[in-house]
Amino acid sequence: MAKDLYAIGEVPPVGEVPPKMYANLVRPENYNEAEPGKAFTVEVVETPPVGRNQVLVSVMAAGINYNNVWAAKGIPIDVTKVQGSIGQPTEWHIGGSDASGVVYAIGENVTNVEVGDEVVVHCGWFDPEDPQIQAGVDPGFTPSFKIWGYETNWGSFGQFCMAYAHQCLPKAPNLTWEEAAAPTLVGGTAYRMLMGWSPNVVRDGDPVLVWGGSGGLGTMAIQIVTHFGGRAVAVVSSDEKGQYCKKLGAVGYINRKNFSHWGVPPHWTKTEEWGEWFQGAKAFGKAFWEALGEKASPKIVFEHPGEDTIPTSIFMAESGGMVVICAGTTGYSATADLRYLWMRQKRLQGSHFANDEQAAAFNQLVIDGHVNPCMGEVFAFDKIGDAHQLMGDNKHGEGNMVALVGAKTSGTKDAPS
Ligand SMILES: NC(=O)c1ccc[n+]([C@@H]2O[C@H](COP(=O)([O-])OP(=O)(O)OC[C@H]3O[C@@H](n4cnc5c(N)ncnc54)[C@H](OP(=O)(O)O)[C@@H]3O)[C@@H](O)[C@H]2O)c1
Repeated sequence: MAKDLYAIGEVPPVGEVPPKMYANLVRPENYNEAEPGKAFTVEVVETPPVGRNQVLVSVMAAGINYNNVWAAKGIPIDVTKVQGSIGQPTEWHIGGSDASGVVYAIGENVTNVEVGDEVVVHCGWFDPEDPQIQAGVDPGFTPSFKIWGYETNWGSFGQFCMAYAHQCLPKAPNLTWEEAAAPTLVGGTAYRMLMGWSPNVVRDGDPVLVWGGSGGLGTMAIQIVTHFGGRAVAVVSSDEKGQYCKKLGAVGYINRKNFSHWGVPPHWTKTEEWGEWFQGAKAFGKAFWEALGEKASPKIVFEHPGEDTIPTSIFMAESGGMVVICAGTTGYSATADLRYLWMRQKRLQGSHFANDEQAAAFNQLVIDGHVNPCMGEVFAFDKIGDAHQLMGDNKHGEGNMVALVGAKTSGTKDAPS
């Protein structure tokens, strides 16, 4: 008999959508800058409605990403305000930008998926009826583009998530639910950063510097670089993490704890202090050559720490090379010594998730077994806050953390019937 509400780990028959669901959500009054993990609470809410180009997916597992650390802190933006701007509820935020699950309902215009399909959901939310997108503009450059489960409500930290149908990609059949939920956000982002900014894309033999090599983005970047014939050198904070990166394909690693020239460099007019900073940056450059096994600079620097590292990244990049950045985890004040940019004609490129084609190209690498999802620790649904706290404190292990939602236990690929 149909129920109004199912327990976590209990999945209704395919196509049956209960009116209520559990969600592990964040309310604005609970935003917590110091302890973002404490902002999450498990509550019962109404199952979301589905628009004509949208789908409802029964979530089996949800990937944990850094974006909901920001959401739970309430900085740099109040995400519920963005939700309100697209007509979604603002009392709470159901985050979660990675899902594996089964399609349970589709809108009237949807043709790319059917009820019962096993999918992963990528986080590139945009309205396919946006005239600019229909005219061929990259969705990422248009106002309707949002990061699903960060800037939108009804992400994967609920029993059902609501997304545009174009966000659905086939789930790799060989992966468990939690493995499948791990890599899509970070992988799609890394794919666009490394393959989306022609002519600065990974080519055979290219040295590439990857910050945070053992983290979500870094693990994907190393594998994508390696797949396209490049040579990744990872930056990490321990030798253990460095060895993990080498197993993923990195040709070497640098332990950033051996250096101290981080943060905003002294002003160039303060010759002595600036000189000290420069010695640090040069020593780091030498460490890159040693890790690579050749005196060559990175053609691409894969950036996301931001404020602490961007001056070094810009210094390090090869002439004509690119620093590509998608975040400022350590801060947003990017100091660039412009001499290196113009004299050596380097490119500083911003990048933000991916379009449908890039997300699909990344997903194919996973399906074909070229990219391991690098699943990290698996959490129970009610521990989603703990996972975000660990991430915010940089105390999480290697790879991508995941929470079980509809999947009762780890290790299962079983579909609901
Ligand atoms: N715009 C987008 O589309 C997009 C997409 C994905 C992620 N992001 C953002 O990118 C950032 C990273 O995400 P992620 O999933 O890779 O997170 P993650 O799994 O936590 O990995 C980040 C890595 O950064 C390294 N790190 C921490 N502090 C550092 C510092 N001071 N200097 C250098 N490295 C440092 C850490 O490695 P070590 O301690 O070993 O060095 C950590 O493993 C987050 O801010 C996230 O919101 C943006």
